[in-house]
Amino acid sequence: NNEQTKFPEGFLWGGATAANQIEGGFDEGNKGLNIADVLPGGKERLNILMSSGFNFEIDRENYRYPNHEAIDFYHRYKEDIALFAEMGFKVFRLSIAWTRIFPNGDEQEPNEEGLAFYDRVFDELISYEIEPVVTISHYEMPLHLVKEYGGWRSRQVISFFENYTNVILKRYKDKVKYWMTFNEINGALKMPIMSMGFSPQNEDDRYQETFQAFHYQFIASSLAVKACKDIIPDAKIGCMILFAPVYSYDSNPENVIYALKEEELFNFFCADVHVRGEYPAFIKRFFKEKKIKLDIQDGDLDIIKEGTVDYIGLSYYMSRTDKKEKTQEEKAQGNIVGGVKNPFLKASDWGWEIDPVGLRISLNKLYSRYQLPLFVVENGLGAYDKIEEDGSINDDYRIDYLREHVQAMGEAVEDGVELMGYTSWGCIDLVSMSTGEMSKRYGFIYVDKNDDGSGTLERKKKNSFHWYKKVIESNGEVL
Ligand code: BG6
Repeated sequence: NNEQTKFPEGFLWGGATAANQIEGGFDEGNKGLNIADVLPGGKERLNILMSSGFNFEIDRENYRYPNHEAIDFYHRYKEDIALFAEMGFKVFRLSIAWTRIFPNGDEQEPNEEGLAFYDRVFDELISYEIEPVVTISHYEMPLHLVKEYGGWRSRQVISFFENYTNVILKRYKDKVKYWMTFNEINGALKMPIMSMGFSPQNEDDRYQETFQAFHYQFIASSLAVKACKDIIPDAKIGCMILFAPVYSYDSNPENVIYALKEEELFNFFCADVHVRGEYPAFIKRFFKEKKIKLDIQDGDLDIIKEGTVDYIGLSYYMSRTDKKEKTQEEKAQGNIVGGVKNPFLKASDWGWEIDPVGLRISLNKLYSRYQLPLFVVENGLGAYDKIEEDGSINDDYRIDYLREHVQAMGEAVEDGVELMGYTSWGCIDLVSMSTGEMSKRYGFIYVDKNDDGSGTLERKKKNSFHWYKKVIESNGEVL
C-alpha cells in the first residue's frame, strides 16, 4: 500500500548507464568517433588522455580500447531491457551518443541510422512501460570537435550542440519525457577532458579555460532547456551535478570556512547557474583572485536566465573531508574528489569512501538551497564479484551499500526533501569510466567480460537483482 510508504507514489526506481560504457558498436551504424573511443583500457587511461603529447588517435599496437565493444548493448539491448523489466524498473537512464546522430558533430544533417537505433531502444523500453531518462551529453564529445575546435573552448560548439539537441528533442518528443543536459558538469573542475574535450596545458590557464567553457556549456544547456519546453511541453529537463558534500576536517574555523568555500565552488557553482539562471555572488571574488575574464556577449545572460532547469539530477558516491593545510601524504589518502581521509568512514576497494549519511546531507543541502525536485541519477558500489561453483553471485556487500543509501534517501524524504527517483549506477556491469576496467562492477546483472577483453558477454543475475526487485515492488519498504 503506497500510502504508507516513505517514498512518494510514482517514485522513479531504475538504473543508470552511459552510451560509451555499454553500447560498443563504436564504428557501426555510421557512428563517428568520440572522446571515449580513444580512451585506452587501464588505470592510467585518463592520465594518458590528458598528457600533452597525446594525439587523440587509436593506437592498437600499444593499447586496448574496452569501450569499443563495451558490453555490446548495441546488439543486446532487448535482452538487457527484458532483465530491467523483470526487476520492475520504472525508468532507465541512458545517454545518447552524440556521434551516432552527428558523427563529426558539426554536420547540418543527422545520421538516420543513429536516430533509428535509439527509436528501437526507446520503443523496447516503452513496451515494458519503462520510461527513458536521457542524458544528452555524457563524456561523449565528438572527437572531431575536440581536434578541430578544442572542445568547449570554442563558442562555435554551442550551435553544434543546439542543432544536435533540437534534432533529438523533435525526434523523440513522444517517447522521452525526462531529460538532462550535461552529465556531472561540475566534474570538469577536477578534470575537464571528458566533458569539455580539452585539458589546460598549464596551471595558469586552468581556471580561465575551464570557466570559459562552463559559460558556453551554460548557454548550450539553457538553449536545450528552452527548446525542450517548446517542443515537449510535458517533459522535465534537469541538470546533472556530481555532488560530494564537503566536511570540515575539524571545528577549527579556518578549516570550516575553507570547506564552505570549496563546497560553494565545486558543488554549488554550476547548480546555482542552472537553477537560478545567474552567476552566484560568491564567484566574483574567485574570478578576481584567479584573474578570470569571461567572454560574455550580448544576450548570453538572458539565455541563461530564461533556460533554468526543472529538477536537479545528481550523482552521489562519496563525501569529501577537507582542511586548509594538508601534507602530500594526507592528500594521497583523500578521495578521488580530493580532501583527506575521514577517520569515521570505510572505503571501497578503489578507495572511494562509503558514506550513506552523506547522501542524506547532500539532499538536504540541495533542497534547502533550491526547493527544486531532486533525482539521484547515480549511486552505487564498484566492487569485485565472484561467481560461485553453482553459478550464483553473492554480492551482499553491494546490497548492504545500496540498502544504506536507500535508507538515507528515505530519511531525506522524511526531512521534507522532494525526491523524484533513484537510478543506481551501472545497473548492468559496464566499463568503468575512471579505470576502463570491467572488474570494477556495479551491476545487478553480471556480464561475462574480463579486463583483458575475454568473455562470452553472457548475462547473469546477481543476488542484488532479486533484492532490488523487492525494493521496487515495495516502493522502498522491503530493504
Ligand atoms: C560518474 C560517471 O562519475 O561515476 C560515470 O558519470 C562513471 O560515467 C561513474 O562510470 C562511476 O565511476 P567509475 O570510474 O567507477 O566508472
